[in-house]
Order: sequence, then C-alpha cells, then structure tokens
Amino acid sequence: MCGIVGYVGRAQAAPILLDGLRRLEYRGYDSAGIAVVDGGRLETRKCAGRIAALTQLMRKQPVSGSLGVSHTRWATHGKVTDQNAHPHFDASGKLALVHNGVIENYQALKDELIRSGDTNFRSETDTEVLAHLIGKLYDESCASTVDIPEKKARLLAAVRAALRQVIGTYGITLVHADIPDFMIGARRGSPLVLGVGDGENFLASDVSAIVAYTRDAVYLNDFDVVAAGRDKFEITSLAGDSTEHPVSKVEFTAEDIGKGDYPHYMLKEIFEQPNTVRDAMRGRLDPDECTAKLGGLNMTPPELRDVGRIVLTGCGTALHAGRVGEYLIERLANFPTDVEYASEFRHRNTPMTPETLVFAISQSGETADTLGALRESRRKGFRTLGICNNVASTIARESDGGVYMHAGPEIGVAATKSFTSQLAILTLLGLLFGRMRNLSATDGSRVIGALEALPGQIEAVLELSDQIKEIAKKYVDANGMLFFGRQFNFPVALEGALKMKEITYLFAEGHPSAELKHGVIALVRPDLPSVFIAPDDSVFSKNLNNIEQVKARKGPVIAVTSGNGPKHLKGIANEIIVLPEAPEYVMPILAVVPLQLLAYHLAVELCRDVDKPRNLAKSVTVE
Ligand code: G6P
Repeated sequence: MCGIVGYVGRAQAAPILLDGLRRLEYRGYDSAGIAVVDGGRLETRKCAGRIAALTQLMRKQPVSGSLGVSHTRWATHGKVTDQNAHPHFDASGKLALVHNGVIENYQALKDELIRSGDTNFRSETDTEVLAHLIGKLYDESCASTVDIPEKKARLLAAVRAALRQVIGTYGITLVHADIPDFMIGARRGSPLVLGVGDGENFLASDVSAIVAYTRDAVYLNDFDVVAAGRDKFEITSLAGDSTEHPVSKVEFTAEDIGKGDYPHYMLKEIFEQPNTVRDAMRGRLDPDECTAKLGGLNMTPPELRDVGRIVLTGCGTALHAGRVGEYLIERLANFPTDVEYASEFRHRNTPMTPETLVFAISQSGETADTLGALRESRRKGFRTLGICNNVASTIARESDGGVYMHAGPEIGVAATKSFTSQLAILTLLGLLFGRMRNLSATDGSRVIGALEALPGQIEAVLELSDQIKEIAKKYVDANGMLFFGRQFNFPVALEGALKMKEITYLFAEGHPSAELKHGVIALVRPDLPSVFIAPDDSVFSKNLNNIEQVKARKGPVIAVTSGNGPKHLKGIANEIIVLPEAPEYVMPILAVVPLQLLAYHLAVELCRDVDKPRNLAKSVTVE
C-alpha cells in the first residue's frame, strides 16, 4: 500500500532508491517517482506505471545526488497519472515529500491554504496538501536568513506543527533543496523503519527495501518523527520530546528475498511450504504432555483455563485461515469461537463476554483494518493477541502477545505460505486449549502425529504440480470457476476462489457444497468448472451428491480428494487430484496447496502478472 524509500549518505542516491522501490513494489505499483537533491536543486522524475517505467525514464534523464526520496504508489486520492505520482512538492517547489496513508482532513487543510493565498496545487492528491502545509509553516519561520542547523530545526518544527493538524494516517519522508544531507520521516498508522548505515541512513516502509545495505534497523512508532543526517539520527515525539529506540538486527538477508531459481515469488513460496509449516511448529510441540507450548501468548495456565470464547479476526487470506480456525478450535477445544472481518469487528458493537480472547491474524502485521480491530479490542479491555509473520510489525508490537509464523518474507501478492503457517498455528492453539479441557492425552498425541506428518505430506502434494499444470491448460478458456467444500474445507473453497480471482482475474466464488442447490446451481454450465474439495472424510458422500448435481447439468468437475475418493469419483469427476490421507482438522493445510497451484498455473497460461496482480497490494495500510 505505497512504498517509501529515502536515502542520505555519500553514495549516489538514485540506484539505491530504485533498488529499494523494486523490493517494495508488492506494496503498490501503479506509479512511481523519485526526487534527489543536487547542489541546492531538486531533480525529480515520476510517471504512471511500474518501477520499470521509472527506471527507463531515469536512464534517459539521469539524476545525481546523495540525498533523496522515492515512492511506489497504490492510488487512494486521485487517478493514476504522472501528476498524481509522488513525490509531491510545496508551493516553493523546494520541499519534496512522499507519503503512505490517507490524510482524511486534506480538503479542510487545502481550503485553508487556498484562503491564505496558496493556489499552486498541481495534483489531486491529499499528499500534496501536506507538502504545502509543511512548506508554508517552514517558509514563514525562515523569513529571515538562518544557517543550516537552524534551517534543520525549523523544518523539523514545521513538520511537527503540520502533522499536529492532520487527521488520518501517514508514513512520510521528505527532503528540502536548501538543506543538504538531511531528511525527515514520521509515522502514524503507516509503517516506517530507519536503516542505520555507516555514514549513511535510510528510511523505508519495510526493511526488505534496505536490507541489502544494512541489517541494523529502528522501527518507528506512531507519532515518532525522525531527523536523519549521514552520520546521526534523532527520534522525537510529535511534541518534540526525545524518545529512545533500540537498534534491532533484521532477521533475514537480501538473499532470502530473492526468487532463487523460480520464475515467480508465488511459486517459490508455494514450494517453501513443507519448511514453513515445519518452522511454524518448531519447538512448539510437547509430546510428553501431548500438547502445544506457546510461550509468546504471555498467559499463565490459570489465565488460559479461564478463556471461554475466542474471536479470530483478519482480512483476505488471514480471515480465511481464521474461518478454518473456528472449526479447528471448536473441534479440538470445544468452546465457542467466532470469526469476524477485521473491518466489521472494528465498527460493530459485538457483544463480548469477559472471558473472550481475541486474535488478530495478519501476515504483514500492518493491515489497517486488522490493526484497527486490534486497537478497538484492546480499548474495550480484551486481551488481544497477534498471529503475525512480520515480527517488527505494528500488530506484533501492539498486541498483548501472540505467535509468530516464522515463514520468512512473503513477497508474492497472493498469500500462500502464510496461510498454511496460520493454519498450523491455529491447530496448535486448538491442541493447547483442548488439552486444558476435554481432549485426552491419546487424542492430543494423535494431533501431534498429524502435525508432524504434514511437511512430508505437503511435499507429496507439490509433486502433483505437473498434473495440475495440465489441468490448468485444459481449462484455460474457462469463464470462471466455482469452489465448493464442507466443514473444514469450506474456508479452503473460499481461499481457492480468492487465489483464482486475485491472479487470473477470472470470476470465482467459494461456497459450502450444500449451498449449491440454494442458488449457485443456476450458474453451472459447461464453460464454468467446479472445484470440489472432497477428501474421503465424514462428509464425502454429501459432497459426492453435490458433484452429481453439477455433472447432471453438464458442469465440469475438478475433484480434490483422498483415500477411497478416486474409486467413487471415477467416471463422474473430469479431473481427480489425490491428496495424502490425514485427519479432517489438518486436511485444509494439504487441500489448499493444489488450489494455489491451479490458480498459479492458470495465471501463467493466461500471461497474467502473477506476483503483482492488477489493482492489488500486498499490505493494505489504508482503510
Ligand atoms: C491484502 C492482500 C491479501 C491479504 C490481506 C491481508 O488484501 O491482497 O492477499 O490476505 O491483505 O493481509 P495480512 O498481511 O493482514 O495477512
């Protein structure tokens, strides 16, 4: 959801900024821009389109200088045009600012600026208003000639004063043509990290942009303002008080965020799942007590025993993981579990009992809707835990505890490995709470056995990739796809449909299989295949009935099954994908993998941009 990179140092800024933008392109990719300070002048290049378009522009019109800001955009205010691309400037044209977030009161601020005589707006964006406001406050304070240190102090004061007037969210970075070797960053609601280098400093929306240059990072909190030179930085609050921040070591390296030998990040991440599921469980299984060990929950055994209800909240794929979690926790721990869209939870007055424990599930840990739900839940006094992949994220830091996924960076916009890691963690939670209630040691031990078998079983499913590729080729002219599943696999149907929509742009819907006859069946026709997730489980025969209903109406069927399933499906389903046998409660971790592969191979057949599908962004930090 927009990516920011800023640089101050001794090297040429432009290649570092462009490299950082490429790493952040997953956050948004409809336009990009860069501004570099060169001998008291701002050199700007910006255009609609991807980073590749900006790179091309910069090849024709290079810029030079060791101080600069840059941005990759996911449009909120204003169309996708060269003019609306960031950086934006103040009225003097000397201050360049990049922004991630939404300035909600931008119209009121703009009206006020216009009333004071400032009419020099060149874009439709909320960001430009903030640039003008900071520039105006700075220019007013610098009416008389002042030296460079004083200019720095006054620019910092202007930033603070402007941000105090802002309603909304922002991660910003800015430079001023009159002030060499100096950049300012600030955040509220949108992430910003300072990379601390040797004789150079960086600002970025995400450490992956700068990890090739430094692994020393300072994660800024809301209302922090950082002023960075080449050799030093200072972090203060919006009120101007100094604040202390630890410098952390980034867990991963630049190699970890490469594609390796894979043509796409998404395929690499699908194939990483045997390892990432193993990593989600590492050190968390206790075979002696037949339970799970989740120290990060920060809860004593009596506190855990007092939990009487769980609410799982998230967005997109994380919400679908929560939906599987609902079945899992109810089955293993047998107490009420509800799932809520984070965006709805936040604004809804859900009746909550005192013994409720809330989980915010988020790969990035930065999704604005999920963060809003977490804050609302904590405000109401509920213990709120995170299930996150990004350990330095806002959700990870603001929650009362939680469980990290340890899945490594997920770059493909369509979430894959984070989903299966989330499911593994939710199974661990079901096991933990179950063992504190009615789940016997024998049953607990069975759950552990099923979890331990998963990495090897996922490997077996990945071997089906070529078969699934052939299926994708066969249905390349399909006009959409329906996904059906029951019980634990109903949310898998939702997730399969989401993957399909996200990266192939085909119409796709997921439903509980039995709902077919209550309306969806009207859609069934020969050019609309139905994917049934129908393992050989307690509801297999029910699924089989629904498959027959589709076949009777000439709808092609792709069945994902297991055990004796193929025997019953032969001659009925057009395609049969066979999964290893596993208990129902872990089957979603296996069943989703062929659906990820089906979406992937079909998207490749359709020549889609798999890792950067249109209109989407991986980390949605606006509401
Ligand atoms: C966006 C992405 C989805 C993702 C969702 C939640 O909508 O496009 O792929 O599932 O955000 O992301 P999170 O980082 O909170 O898991």
